Amino acid sequence: MGVAETVRVDARSRSYDVVVGWGLLASLGARVHAVCKAENAFVVSDSNVAPLYLAACEASLTAAGLRVASHVFPAGEQHKRMGTFEQILEDMAGAGLTRDDVVIALGGGVVGDMAGFAAASYMRGIEVVQVPTTLLAMVDSSVGGKTAIDLSTGKNLVGAFLQPSLVVADVSLLATLDDEVFTDGMGEVVKHGVLADEELFDELAVHPLLPGTSDLAYLAHIVARNVAIKRDVVNADETERGLRQTLNLGHTLGHAIEAAHDFTLGHGHCVAAGLCCIARAAEALGWAEAGLSARIDRCVAAQGLPIDTEVAHQTLLVFATLDKKRHGDGVNVIVPTGISRCEIRRVSLAAFSHIIDLGCGTSPA
Ligand SMILES: NC(=O)c1ccc[n+]([C@@H]2O[C@H](COP(=O)([O-])OP(=O)(O)OC[C@H]3O[C@@H](n4cnc5c(N)ncnc54)[C@H](O)[C@@H]3O)[C@@H](O)[C@H]2O)c1
Ligand SMILES: [Zn+2]
Repeated sequence: MGVAETVRVDARSRSYDVVVGWGLLASLGARVHAVCKAENAFVVSDSNVAPLYLAACEASLTAAGLRVASHVFPAGEQHKRMGTFEQILEDMAGAGLTRDDVVIALGGGVVGDMAGFAAASYMRGIEVVQVPTTLLAMVDSSVGGKTAIDLSTGKNLVGAFLQPSLVVADVSLLATLDDEVFTDGMGEVVKHGVLADEELFDELAVHPLLPGTSDLAYLAHIVARNVAIKRDVVNADETERGLRQTLNLGHTLGHAIEAAHDFTLGHGHCVAAGLCCIARAAEALGWAEAGLSARIDRCVAAQGLPIDTEVAHQTLLVFATLDKKRHGDGVNVIVPTGISRCEIRRVSLAAFSHIIDLGCGTSPA
């Protein structure tokens, strides 16, 4: 067992530790006990994660003197919905959970969002401890306090802010992830490097983080760096104005690529491609330093992620501006100008269309 690093997050509503390391599941109960006065722990997990890790999680909580109940829902984004939410709340009430008790989110971003929103709503809010089991959940969704579920009209339309009381990121749990899901998480990791950390970016370019890696120390080190980056941005701006917007680097085009693929291509893959496209356009327009785009392309490709998209430009434009049109004529784009440097630019629809022409489907093969 090893704790590589503890990252302290001081959010406005709560301060908490993100413990990153390996073999940490065994000490989860003791860690929860140290930060919560709960008598009951309610574990939420999904049908892929529960068979692998629920027993160890429950054993650790029980050993720390907590009474444990759980709810396991079918894995997949299509279950991040009201129906699941209601069943979880009914089971929480059935288990006799009180205001002082704690919800444990054991799973990827879907479980984290689902369990977090249930905790935020139950009796107007009880504590949640995040135990992320995907790379994406470790570096992105478990930190920052956003929780949400989907409606039939769109993703993440209902939710709440609830900072966790503790995050335990055990990178040894990533060994069972599908390669594709692991690599998908790298999209946000490279994004964080481009956004805020040149050292991390250069490290990844030289030593890409690939699925099946047995170097847990390196994995934990990279996760901890990413948690710190997200922490710094979110701390500066807890409720999503200004700086937090920069976390959307690569996302305007990324979301359009994702929608054009009917959500069959992973979010991280789309963000990676979106990031490369916006960097290409930024360099062509003289907004970014020379060589930036090629540098980002190399790092992204080294992780096994796409650097471009073949989606038709008109399709990208339509998807990228779908919800934005209602807010006037412009689009906010996060433009990388160097590694660890970016700016928010508001551009007209015509200028955005030009950005797509310059950046998408134009990568040197
Ligand atoms: N709240 C936020 O700030 C935030 C940020 C980014 C994304 N999200 C949300 O996160 C979700 C995506 O998260 P995700 O990519 O982790 O998807 P996910 O939770 O669906 O996990 C991906 C797949 O991996 C499986 N899995 C998880 N851990 C595993 C493990 N250790 N071993 C084997 N299989 C495992 C899951 O069952 C699932 O099938 C989306 O719903 C997105 O909206 C939220
Ligand atoms: Zn994202």
